[in-house]
Parts: sequence; C-alpha cells; structure tokens
Amino acid sequence: MIIDDTVSMLDVAGIGFGPSNLALAIALDARAPGRRSCFFEKQPEFRWHGGMLLPGSRMQVSFLKDLVTLHDPTSRFTFVNYLHARGRLVDFINQKTFFPSRIEFNDYLRWAAAQFDDRASYGTEVVAVEPVTTNGRLTAFAIRIADAAGRERVVRARSAVVAMGGRPRIPEPFRPLKREPRLFHSSGYLRHLDRIRLADEAGGRVAVIGGGQSAAEIFSDIRSRFPRVKVDLILRAAALKPADDSPFVNEIFNPGFTDLIFSQAPAQRRAVIDEFRGTNYSVVDLDLIQSIYEDLYQQKVTGEDRLRIRAGQRITGVSAGEGGIAVVTRDTMSGVPAAETYQAVILATGYDRDLPRDLVGALDPHVTGWEPDRLYRVPMADPSGPVLHLQGACEDSHGLSDTLLSVVVIRAQEIATALAAHLDRMDAAAAPARRPALAGAAG
Ligand SMILES: Cc1cc2nc3c(=O)[nH]c(=O)nc-3n(C[C@H](O)[C@H](O)[C@H](O)COP(=O)(O)OP(=O)(O)OC[C@H]3O[C@@H](n4cnc5c(N)ncnc54)[C@H](O)[C@@H]3O)c2cc1C
Ligand SMILES: NC(=O)c1ccc[n+]([C@@H]2O[C@H](COP(=O)([O-])OP(=O)(O)OC[C@H]3O[C@@H](n4cnc5c(N)ncnc54)[C@H](OP(=O)(O)O)[C@@H]3O)[C@@H](O)[C@H]2O)c1
Repeated sequence: MIIDDTVSMLDVAGIGFGPSNLALAIALDARAPGRRSCFFEKQPEFRWHGGMLLPGSRMQVSFLKDLVTLHDPTSRFTFVNYLHARGRLVDFINQKTFFPSRIEFNDYLRWAAAQFDDRASYGTEVVAVEPVTTNGRLTAFAIRIADAAGRERVVRARSAVVAMGGRPRIPEPFRPLKREPRLFHSSGYLRHLDRIRLADEAGGRVAVIGGGQSAAEIFSDIRSRFPRVKVDLILRAAALKPADDSPFVNEIFNPGFTDLIFSQAPAQRRAVIDEFRGTNYSVVDLDLIQSIYEDLYQQKVTGEDRLRIRAGQRITGVSAGEGGIAVVTRDTMSGVPAAETYQAVILATGYDRDLPRDLVGALDPHVTGWEPDRLYRVPMADPSGPVLHLQGACEDSHGLSDTLLSVVVIRAQEIATALAAHLDRMDAAAAPARRPALAGAAG
C-alpha cells in the first residue's frame, strides 16, 4: 500500500505484519469488508523469523493451526490450499507429518501475505502511537511511521492493533556491549554467519548462551555448517530439558483454554503459566536433544573436543577485547568460576513481549489501565472512541498460547468481530455530524 496524502483516516492500523496481523487481515476481509486498513511492517518484505529459518528446523505446531483452519477449514487461505496451489499436496501427504519445515511455513505465510499487498506497507516502522484530540476528547490515533531512511510521517486511524512480536532479550551483563559486532541475538543468527565463518577459519571458538529451542538449534546448525570452530553451549539450567508436547498438556493451547485462564485471578493465572512453562520456554524438542547427545557421544568415540555443553553456569562478567569476548561464569552448584574467550557470542536468550511504553506512552491520559480485556482491548477512558487491541502481548492475562500460533486464528476472529461492531457504532454516533467533519479532515 502506498501511504500518501490521500490516506487521511484508516479504520484499522495494524502495527506489525507477522502471522497475528496476517490472520487479522484475513478475518477483517470477511467481517469488515470495505473497511480501510493498513498493516505497517518494518521488514522490507514478509518474513517469519527470517534470522532463524534454519535448514532442517520444523514447525512446533501442527499445520492445521495455520491462519484459518480452526475457524474455517473451507477458507482459501488454508495451508492445504497453499500446498495445492504450489502443486505439492500429494508429496506433502507422502511425508506423513503434521509438522512442515519452518522454511515451508514461511513460504505459506508469504503466499497468504502476498494476497494483502494492497493493505500492507513494508519497510515502514511504527515509532509511536499518539492521541489526536478534539476539545480534550480522543478522536483518533496518530500513527507515527518511519521509512527505512528514517523519514517520518503520520497516518490517522480510528483503531489500532498492535502485533509486534517479541523484542530480543539481552541479559544485563551483555548490555554494555550493545554495539559489539561479535555479539548478537539469535533472532539475527543467519544474518551474522560471516562472524562465525571468521571464527571457523581461525580455528576459534564461539559461545551460544541459553538452553531453549533457539540455542539448541543454533548449536546444532553451527556444528553442521562449520567444520572447525569450537562451540560452547552455556546455560543456567543443569541440563537441556525437553519440551512437553504430550496430548493432555497440549490442551492448554486449545482456544477454549483462553476463557479459563482469563477468568482466573492474577495470582492463579501466574500459577498456571508457571506450571506449564515447560511446554514452551527454556525447553528443546526431544528429537533435537537426542541428536545433540549423539553428536557429543560421537566426539567421545573419535576423541574430538569441538562441542561442549556447559550447563549450570551463571554469567558474572563479560568484556570485549582484541582477542574476542571474554565470558566469566560461576558454576551454580560448586561455585567454581571460569573465564573463556570467544570470537563470537550468540545470545539465544529469548524475547521480551510486553507492550513497549515508548510506543504507546503518549496514550496514558486516555486509558484507564494497560491490562487488556477478554477481547484484547486496552481499556479506554472513553469506550466509544478509538480502540486499541493487542496481539501477542497478553500472556499474563490470556495464557501461554498468546505468543504462539495456537490461538492466532480464533483471536483474529474475535478481534475482527469486535472491531467491525465498534467501527459501526462509531459511524452511527458520528452520523449527524459526520459530513462536515470529514470534509475538514480530508488531506
Ligand atoms: C525462531 C522462532 C520459531 C518459532 N516457531 C514457532 C512454531 O513453530 N509454532 C508456534 O506456535 N510458535 C512459534 N514461534 C513463536 C512466534 O511468536 C509465533 O510463531 C508467531 O511468529 C507470532 O506471530 P506475531 O505476528 O504475533 O509476531 P511476529 O511473528 O514476531 O511478527 C511481528 C512483526 O511485527 C514487526 N514489527 C515489530 N515492531 C514493529 C514496528 N514498530 N513497526 C512495524 N513493524 C514492527 C516485526 O518485524 C514482525 O514482522 C516461534 C518463534 C521463534 C522466535
Ligand atoms: N523450530 C521452531 O519452531 C523454533 C525455533 C526457535 C524458537 N522457537 C520458539 O521461540 C520461542 C522462544 O524460544 P527461545 O529459545 O528463543 O527462548 P526461550 O525459550 O525463552 O529460552 C531463552 C533461554 O535463554 C536463557 N536466558 C535468559 N536470560 C538469561 C540470562 N540473563 N543469563 C543466562 N541465560 C539466560 C534462559 O535461561 P533460563 O531457563 O535459565 O531462564 C533460556 O534457556 C519459544 O516459543 C520457542 O518454542 C521455535
């Protein structure tokens, strides 16, 4: 979508265009046809965690949890229809799997996203959502956007849906080295392979920090991609632990579970999230754990020492010098300290998913709190005015599925239904005064 002066007022501004807002675009198409929406995406094109599209990595949910099937299996946006369109349906079936490669699922999402090119603005970062007021009353959101060159402009919208995903979590000891090129987060892994190549050519060492799926996948990828470099996986936990994806436990990701979690008091919600954390965070697919264990065993057979798992290590200090990045650790059991130097350090330390206050802080005077209601809406002082929905930032209130693909479809339908009704009510309320006001707002 070209954002120019003809865009005076959007009905819906989507902030971020990943799977969550893509599912919303599909839902709005059916539930609010004719409404003017635009999805702002800072990447130059649609890419689903592009820095981690590793060969061999697989989806962690069934392809049936695609963008639409749980709501409407007859939709043209199903993964099955994508396979059919690509001429691979029969071959896919022959694989006998529910879990496509991440590379294929990314291609599916791009195929679906391409059908909304008229509503997507790529290479456009939303830098702030600010209030537009008339006589002190909130009448619209000013969506402040910046292009890749940093040029800013403002688009107005009567509603906004924030679905920005997570921000790379940088643990405290590493923060002073923010600009250090030999240190990077797992989200940018594939963009920084040249750093590991340098270490490989020099017969050097790299460290991967973390004990979750990203850390394990990167550890394994470096091993198979680079023949010489030595790799340490440094984690706080005492061992790599498997993700629990057994069927009874998996029911917590059923869309119906959202109501159950939301109806609990905050302490009870937290207790449930803590109880089931091992389904998602700081855990690794069992198959991958087994393959890593096998690699380490083969090292024992051949007498190599290229791969090490340094479990139970707390990082106590980090510094950068000419020879590399020095990482000081302390063993959590014995208290024994150690210091090692690496030519590259990859932080597979997860993501922060709370709503960034610098993005929406200017709305403070117009909201009555930041905890979303069941329909993922931020409570506004004037409930009949502009409305702000959140996707993926509601884990505390809506449960562990909020950051995953599991509820993307049903959540998008709920939000689209609520938005359609809200915009209709806003139109009805504005009807008598609408014509002159619109004329004044044009351009
Ligand atoms: C490597 C990896 C693999 C995963 N695999 C699975 C899986 O198999 N199954 C599963 O259920 N979950 C998985 N997840 C969890 C993941 O959160 C979801 O799959 C999914 O990506 C959530 O979609 P989203 O649209 O909410 O967020 P995202 O996919 O993160 O999309 C958010 C988008 O917003 C854009 N954006 C951010 N800030 C701005 C801004 N200010 N202005 C404009 N655009 C902005 C980003 O560029 C991004 O494209 C995985 C996560 C990772 C990191
Ligand atoms: N193939 C796939 O589908 C795929 C691939 C990658 C990721 N994912 C998904 O992406 C999401 C995030 O996974 P992730 O592995 O990136 O993150 P994660 O599961 O949150 O794991 C982060 C890791 O970093 C560690 N960590 C955090 N802060 C630290 C600190 N200060 N010092 C030392 N260690 C620290 C954590 O240790 P503690 O345990 O000690 O806190 C944890 O081991 C999950 O939903 C995952 O399933 C999916």
